[in-house]
Amino acid sequence: MLTLEKNSLSEEIEELVSLYGENRGSLLEILGAIEKKYGYISEFAQQEVARLLNIHPVEVYSFISFFSFLHSKPQGRNMVRMCKTIACNMKGADNISAVIEKELGIKFGETTKNRRVTLEYTNCLGMCDCAPAMLVNGKIYTNLDVEKAIKIINELK
Ligand code: FES
Repeated sequence: MLTLEKNSLSEEIEELVSLYGENRGSLLEILGAIEKKYGYISEFAQQEVARLLNIHPVEVYSFISFFSFLHSKPQGRNMVRMCKTIACNMKGADNISAVIEKELGIKFGETTKNRRVTLEYTNCLGMCDCAPAMLVNGKIYTNLDVEKAIKIINELK
């Protein structure tokens, strides 16, 4: 079993590389493990992964950018993911998103200064029949309206 109790991040990444394989096909497992432990993948970690896999750091960064569950910056304690797919949009998700942004004073893709909330868009959550929907810390909220969304957001602040 993998232990992530080593002192240095470099040693941890070396362990991950030896566990999952020294090639770019292991990027998802390696970066996923770093994200799981630290909540994001720092620039240093990205460079270390690139060095150990003998690939360019830009490739690692691009990979992180492609997957919405990987992050290159620290995230808030609470993760709010608003569905941006068509069924939710047709039921007013855009308006709710704008209200949430105003309530928190940040845009989607950003984290509040106190690091309590990060806003992200997501694709369909599979709850189209009770749109609009959003995911908060893994819990799905459906049939959202402005009042319901503000109440949920205010509990996270
Ligand atoms: S489109 Fe939003 S849950 Fe399906």
